[in-house]
Formats: sequence, C-alpha cells, structure tokens
Amino acid sequence: MNVIKVTILLTMLQSVLGNHNFSTSNDLVSRKGKWLWSWASIWGIGIVRFQNGVCRGSDSLDGTCYTKRQCSDISGIASGSCASNIGVCCVRNPKDKPEMRQKSGIYKIACKDCDPIYIGQTKRSIETRYKEHLAHFRYGRKESPAVAQHLIEKGHHIEIDSVKLLKAVNKPRELNGYESIYIYKHENNLMNREPAILGKSVFFENLIQRTCGASSSYNNTYFVNPAFPNTMTAGSVCAFTIQQCNPSICQVRIDFLTLSLAQPNANGSCIYDSMNIIGGASNIPAICGENSGLHLYVDFNGNSNIRIVISTSSDASVTKAWKLKIAQIACDCPTRAPSGCLMYYTDLSGTVRSFNYGTTVSSYLLPNGQPGTRQLANTNYGICVDMVAGYCGIQWSQSSDIYSFTVSGGTSIAVGQGTIATSASFINGTDCTTDFIVVPNPSVNGVPTRTDRFCGNGLPTLTTYSKPFVLTTVTNGDDLPDSGNRGFALSYTQLRCTNIIVGR
Ligand SMILES: *[C@@H]1O[C@H](CO)[C@@H](O)[C@H](O)[C@H]1NC(C)=O
Ligand SMILES: *[C@@H]1O[C@H](CO)[C@@H](O)[C@H](O)[C@H]1NC(C)=O
Ligand SMILES: *[C@@H]1O[C@H](CO)[C@@H](O)[C@H](O)[C@H]1NC(C)=O
Ligand SMILES: *[C@@H]1O[C@H](CO)[C@@H](O)[C@H](O)[C@H]1NC(C)=O
Repeated sequence: MNVIKVTILLTMLQSVLGNHNFSTSNDLVSRKGKWLWSWASIWGIGIVRFQNGVCRGSDSLDGTCYTKRQCSDISGIASGSCASNIGVCCVRNPKDKPEMRQKSGIYKIACKDCDPIYIGQTKRSIETRYKEHLAHFRYGRKESPAVAQHLIEKGHHIEIDSVKLLKAVNKPRELNGYESIYIYKHENNLMNREPAILGKSVFFENLIQRTCGASSSYNNTYFVNPAFPNTMTAGSVCAFTIQQCNPSICQVRIDFLTLSLAQPNANGSCIYDSMNIIGGASNIPAICGENSGLHLYVDFNGNSNIRIVISTSSDASVTKAWKLKIAQIACDCPTRAPSGCLMYYTDLSGTVRSFNYGTTVSSYLLPNGQPGTRQLANTNYGICVDMVAGYCGIQWSQSSDIYSFTVSGGTSIAVGQGTIATSASFINGTDCTTDFIVVPNPSVNGVPTRTDRFCGNGLPTLTTYSKPFVLTTVTNGDDLPDSGNRGFALSYTQLRCTNIIVGR
C-alpha cells in the first residue's frame, strides 16, 4: 500500500471519526493508542515500520514481532510487546487454532490451489460455517454459494486450516460493516461472486464517501458535498475523478441519491450552480436544480478518466447538497445501458422525468414578468427502456400531475385558459421547433400520428412498437417565448406481444 492511499484512508477515517486530530503518524499511534492502531492495521497501513524480528514472549517462548492484527491473522497469541510497545510478540500455538474457529464474525477461506479468497460473515462459529461450505461442495448443489462453485468449477480444494477468523464480531451492524471493509480491501482477489454487501451497510457507505478533489477506481463509491449530510451554501468548484477499476469497464452509472443545486435562470441555463460531467464519450448537458432520485449513464472514452465537476455560486440563500453513487459497469454486463441512453430503465412500467422536473414554478422571472422555465436549456438526450422478453410495445402517457408535460409555449397562459393537459394544448410535428420530445412512429387510439415530435402543454397517450424503446428530449437555449414550463414526468408501460397489430 503506498503513501497516497494511506493519506486517502486517513482522510476517510477522519471523516468517519469526526474531529479527532491526528495529523502525523506518531499521533495516530501514541495519542489514540490501541484503538486507532487496530483500525490502521485492518487496512495494513505501514505507517510505523518495524522489523518482524524474533522476540521473547512473556511466557519465555520465542515468537515473531508482528502487529496485533497480523498476529491474529495467523492465529497466533500476543505474548508481551516488542518494537517499543508498538508490536506484539506473536507466539504460534497450534492448540489455539481450534479455539479461534469457535468464534463468530468475519472469516476468510483461502483456496489451497489458487490465490482468490472468500470473505464471509457468520453469527455461528466459523468452523460450522466452514463445514457448510464443504457440504455444499460435496453435494454439488446447483445454487451453491461461491466457495463450492469455485471448487466445483476449478477442481480446487480447501482444508480446515483454509478458514481464518478476520474479526470477531456478532452484532448485525458490525458484521455487515466489517464484511464490507474486508471485501473492499480484497476487492481484486475475491472468490465472492457478487460482493453485493458493498453499499448494504450504512456504516460502510459513510466510510467510503469522498468529497472534493478525491478520485476513485473502486466500484460503488459515493461523491458527497463537503458538509454532507448537511447542506452547504458556499461558492466553490468541487471535482471528483472516476478511474476505470479495470480495462473491462465501459460505463459508469451515477445515481443522484441527493442532488439539490440552485435552479437555472429564467431561460433554463445553469448559470448559478452547475454539474458538468466531462471526459466521457457521452454528451451530457450541464445539470442544476432538483434532481434527487434520477440517474445517468456515462460511457468511458477509452481509458480516460471521467470527471464530475460541481460549481456552486456563493448565493447564501441557496442551499446545496449532493450524494452521488458511482457504479462501474463492465462492457459485457447485462445491465449496461445502450450507447446514447443517458437514462435507462429496466422495469415493466415506471415514470421518467426530465432533469429538474418539479411541482413548483421557477422563481426566476422572464423580462415580461412571468415565471421562467424549470426545463434545462440545451439538452438533447435519450431516455431508454429495456424491452422485457414477451413485451413488444410501449405506451407513454402523462403522469397524474397536470403539469407533467409542459415543455413549450406559455404554461401559465394554458393554465389561465383551462387548456393545460387537454388536446387544445397538444402541439406536434413541424410546429415543435424549440423544446420537444421525440417518440418514434407512435399512434394515438390506434391512429398513426404521422409525426414523431411532440411539444406544448399536454401530451396524448402514445403507443409505439418501434424498437429500441427510446424517448428523446430536446431543448434549445432560449425560453423567452415560453413561461412556467416544468419539463415532463411521463408514465410508461410495456405492452405484451399479444397486443401486437400485424403489419407494425
Ligand atoms: C491539531 O493539531 C495542530 C498541531 O498540533 C494544532 O495546531 C490544531 O489546533 C489542532 N486541531 C484541533 C482541532 O485540535
Ligand atoms: C459494480 O456494482 C454494481 C452494483 O452493485 C454491479 O452491478 C456491477 O456489476 C459492479 N461492477 C463491477 C465491475 O463489478
Ligand atoms: C397534431 O397536430 C395537428 C394540427 O394541429 C392536429 O390536428 C392533430 O390532432 C395533432 N395530433 C396529435 C396526435 O396531437
Ligand atoms: C434568455 O436568452 C435570450 C436569448 O439568448 C437572451 O436575450 C435573454 O437575455 C436571456 N434571458 C435571461 C433571463 O437570461
């Protein structure tokens, strides 16, 4: 482990542990004593180095000078101290091993014929758990856990001394937390099939949160504003760099668990706060406003890093906060989004929203005194739905909110006239020139619309059998002729193939 990593880990620990002052490594050891040291040694941080020389244990047996952690990893007994009290004189005692195996907690199983290890947790004894792994292997069960599958597939084997206790714990929260830490630490050398535990534990999630200036090449990391979970008002430029965790990664999915920035100006431009995602192969608009719950996909451009840059204005009346979850997606991963799909949904039915769609009107005013738009300016992106087997078509309709399709024209005027969300507000075809959506080859009530383009302040329910299922949204950079637009929130439902009409 190199020095840079040590610094990052310390920063992470610091963010978890609060305001403890440990600016130097000596502080780490001497001031916070054993407890912090055991944290440091979980990560194998080589802050203080000493020779693993021979030492004399307190029971006058010869041992080796190790950290306490290393000693427990090899099932040794700490017998007195060494290296100026930093290390323990670790005495091997074969009789001690069975005793360790009666404990519960986080364990690893090392394969006898290869490198990868399995990390698991148990509330029972790790010996019992080991026997279960072995039984799965012997009975060759189809749904076998990862260890048995590995042994079956590779023809490898394990023995009782393959199992080691990594951490004796038994509270559920600690089990999840420590299991995550060990999985994270050994991420590149695991037998575990899908380390789904990552992100399962809030404790771990907090541990791997990073903020301004950080970078990450791990799967499932979190980028948060500096004060998170508190909001912030300061003006700053905060960037986060995503590096491919390995060359087989093609894409990242960024989930906006929280993304709350200043609203765009009346024209829909993100001139106060703005999130820009650069360096990838995807075309991504500047994003601002309220976007919690949305997500987007970005393709890597070769092995170049992807950077998320969030610039905030110092207008103290606007609070901002973000927590973005970043998952790396392998090129052959079934959940990879098709190129060009900025958002990608895989359910049979659901709701899609344009960026910054919301239930309140913009507080920024147009020169004519009317409210501006919430819709973001200069966008052009695809929202895709994965076609489920047995389903051939898709239906798009307004969601329950009457403002759920207000993309061009004076929304305030349509409200005043009582035409909002009615056919009087439907606009299509060449009349849609500024902000609109595109749905390929749809029909309304079984009648082909003969146009793909829709805008205005209402949308008829559209049905299409064109594949792939995609809705494209386009906005320009000038909303002066519009007022009070909010964008869209549309419900989609996939249609069973039996509904298909011959000839489409
Ligand atoms: C941390 O230690 C430095 C150097 O000893 C000191 O200047 C600083 O005030 C300390 N900070 C806190 C929060 O204790
Ligand atoms: C990263 O994590 C996500 C979600 O847990 C998973 O779907 C994806 O396959 C993981 N990526 C890699 C490269 O392991
Ligand atoms: C498209 O616009 C034309 C002309 O305004 C209108 O007659 C037609 O009903 C519209 N179609 C839909 C599906 O809204
Ligand atoms: C909106 O855009 C138009 C055209 O670029 C510009 O003239 C106008 O000043 C802008 N309005 C605001 C409020 O930014």
